[in-house]
Amino acid sequence: MISTPSKPATSEAFSREDWRRGYQTQSEEASYWVDDITGQIPPELSGTLFRNGPGTMDVGGDRFHHPFDGDGMICAFTFVDGKVFFRNRYVRTPGFIAEQEAGKILYRGVFGTQKPGGFLSNAMDLKLKNIANTGVHYWGEKLMALWEAAEPYGLEPVNLETLGPEYLDGLLKAGQAFSAHPRIDPGSTRTGGKRRFVNFGVKTGLSSAINIYEFEEDGSLATQQTRNVPGFAFLHDFVITENYYVFFQNPVKFNPLPFVFGQKGAAQCLEFDPKGKTQMLVIPRDAAQPVQRFETESCFVFHHANAFETAGAFEQDGKLIVDSICYPSFPSVEPGEDFMETVFEDVPPGQLFRFTADLSQGNVTREEISLRPCEFPSLHPAKVGKDARYYYIGCVIDPNIANAPLQSIIKLDLQGEPKTWTAAPRGFISEPLFVSRNPSDVNAAEDDGWVLCLIYNAARHASDLVILNAQDLQEVARVNLKQHIPYGLHGSFTVETFGITA
Ligand SMILES: [Fe+2]
Repeated sequence: MISTPSKPATSEAFSREDWRRGYQTQSEEASYWVDDITGQIPPELSGTLFRNGPGTMDVGGDRFHHPFDGDGMICAFTFVDGKVFFRNRYVRTPGFIAEQEAGKILYRGVFGTQKPGGFLSNAMDLKLKNIANTGVHYWGEKLMALWEAAEPYGLEPVNLETLGPEYLDGLLKAGQAFSAHPRIDPGSTRTGGKRRFVNFGVKTGLSSAINIYEFEEDGSLATQQTRNVPGFAFLHDFVITENYYVFFQNPVKFNPLPFVFGQKGAAQCLEFDPKGKTQMLVIPRDAAQPVQRFETESCFVFHHANAFETAGAFEQDGKLIVDSICYPSFPSVEPGEDFMETVFEDVPPGQLFRFTADLSQGNVTREEISLRPCEFPSLHPAKVGKDARYYYIGCVIDPNIANAPLQSIIKLDLQGEPKTWTAAPRGFISEPLFVSRNPSDVNAAEDDGWVLCLIYNAARHASDLVILNAQDLQEVARVNLKQHIPYGLHGSFTVETFGITA
């Protein structure tokens, strides 16, 4: 079992009312040049930060059971000449449109939202509402809102208008899974030095089929393969190296009956097995090579930080290293529970571990990197799949606290001491994202750039985009939005400014 810090969260550390207000539905859609800026936006910061996350927490006053069931709302910040143009807009999925028109909840949510009327009105209704709320990426001249259980939605990058379901030139069928966690391969001899957009989709049940795709810079399909693995697989994220895709198959069982009979959401039917083994699936990018499976101690993983190979992973002394955020069990909000009343010290903490697989010997070892509860790891894009020194991760304010909302950012130096920046006591952070100062400068330091992070600032009941110097984590600038953005999930940065000029 993973050891956990024992110090309880204290009521003085943050105001629960502050934390709750960050979840309020944002019904306004806006588009403006931000004129309230503290500090100075670095003029060399040029490009667009896209973020996705649930913007609704209710329909017509009826609360969703879990924030992950909220509809996707995209935010975009385009940086031009030290200025920033902001806009936010909902993804117009059919489910979003129908519920907004009806003014009430019409769909069940994966994480436990039920239609009004009790289990009788929910039983046998297995329709999924594509909420497009988890990730957002610009690739091959397409902006896509991603939700792992179905196809992405295409968006217009300047005004964020919804273009419709994106089937990737016929690659996907309606309703086909396409993960919200693509990895951008920075390029290697395998790819001819070119970047690639690598993503997967999983169809699971008694066994699981994992479809894995690689796309060239122009959006065309480079490679595609399907691997079948035994057992149910909850796969939210993965990592890549030059030669492998790596997935962690969590030790969970899925009993769909409470979902079918209208008593639970699908994700509430997952049962974590603390005595089970977490399976590391090592899938060669060369489709002719076999999948390898390695067992490690029971833990639950949503997100990985990175992975890399040492000296040819199949050769003598070569290893495959994976850094992942591990939970001692699956955190869920059960029927009858209210996530607004979360007792944080009872929520399993995410902690960063390093897994080292010896592929030739067939074993995996695990060691802790940081036990400080944390989530949303980020790194220099050029270090994806390579040996990185720095990670930027959301974390709790006190390293010894059992669990609490994320209010700080930690820069982990795998060769030195960590640095932290905090938004406490009234700021609550989202995923920090590292942006390189000069992506084409291969000789630049790995931390030469900025960390961008959207925080909910309860003091203003509005959100601030904070720009930190990645080297010392000092605040460089703060973009004070006119409105709050509910706690989000994932984002990405592109150097494109889409013709927007100051
Ligand atoms: Fe995620």
